[in-house]
Amino acid sequence: MRCDTLWKDARLATMADGGMGVVEQGVVAARDGAIIYAGPANDAPAFDAAESIGCDGRWITPGLIDCHTHLIHAGNRAQEFEMRLDGASYEDIARAGGGIVSTMRATRGASEDELVATALPRLDALLAEGVTTVEVKSGYGLDTASEIRMLRAARRLGAERRVRIATTFLGAHALPPEYAGDPDAYIATIVDTMLPEIARLGLADAVDAFCEGIGFTAEQTAHVFEAAKQAGLPVKLHAEQLSNQHGAALAAQYGALSADHLEYLGDDGVAAMAKAGTVATLLPGAYYFMRETKLPPVDALRAAGVPIALATDCNPGTSPLTSLLLVMNMGATLFRLTVAECLAGVTRNAAGALGLADRIGTLEAGKRCDLAIWDVERPAELVYRMGLNPLHARIWSGR
Ligand code: NIG
Ligand code: FE
Repeated sequence: MRCDTLWKDARLATMADGGMGVVEQGVVAARDGAIIYAGPANDAPAFDAAESIGCDGRWITPGLIDCHTHLIHAGNRAQEFEMRLDGASYEDIARAGGGIVSTMRATRGASEDELVATALPRLDALLAEGVTTVEVKSGYGLDTASEIRMLRAARRLGAERRVRIATTFLGAHALPPEYAGDPDAYIATIVDTMLPEIARLGLADAVDAFCEGIGFTAEQTAHVFEAAKQAGLPVKLHAEQLSNQHGAALAAQYGALSADHLEYLGDDGVAAMAKAGTVATLLPGAYYFMRETKLPPVDALRAAGVPIALATDCNPGTSPLTSLLLVMNMGATLFRLTVAECLAGVTRNAAGALGLADRIGTLEAGKRCDLAIWDVERPAELVYRMGLNPLHARIWSGR
């Protein structure tokens, strides 16, 4: 059988059997950017490969997927970090005009080129650790032109680097100052103007909102979800990060791809997510950086069979983090996830959180050939180390 590239003498974590799908003596074959075989060398057809690469027993996993980021933004919030070290809370800072709105000001003042240029080092940090797909949200523009500029910048990242970018419109991230005191009017603008325009331009693959005391109510979130449905876009939600607003249950009602954060998720939310097949995206970087002490209900999610994803939530306020390897370590150490759960969280289940489970996230024939090849003795090393990058090679779409 003809193929473009054959990776031989490898150990595989295919992530394809619900666990890690370990294959001790494996090969991966790619043609036209897709996997045509991934499995035991013994069972493989005889390949006539244009290029054959010996892996010396290294481990191959699916390329990693960061399914929740705010990678596009201008400026940083190191000064607010200092204020928090002096005792101010995230909510205090947000209510005093800092927080998301301070990043909004910087982002509104940045050109599309500047937004791309400042995001590239963050993207490169992710790619250096074997990431092949990144979700990027808007939500720091908070007016039509600036949200469009953010999403265009996000799409451009996918032209600047060999990576798949999934974009998410997060207009309902915070109340912009021009709507102070009238959040319903801002929601109406999102529903009537921003979302339809962004959908028409094809700039968003999904729609998100921040359902929270300092964000938007469940009712306002539902309006945004209705508009997304009208536009034919799937939804996801920042839910139950600081309090239980029953946002995850609402999201599940709308068939959400994922509900994210979830520290304050209750039993109703877990049940609704399980029923709808909504992925629970946990963000241990934000949990850590905010010094949160309320743990997401991992046991309940597990027991209900809710798929768990892990992501960086890379953003300037609550998770200035650009390492998915460190996220796995935090997922294990802080949230007590197993190695298999951590790896599934940044591969198979992260693909599910983006609605891309049929294309990426496992090593299986028919999927895109996105691989990470690692200099490790066992997959647990990917979760165990803090700050060492054992990536040997990153393959995106077969190259
Ligand atoms: O995912 N929770 C809301 N959004 C971001 C924080 C954004 C910010 O503070 O700039 C998050 O944690
Ligand atoms: Fe976020």
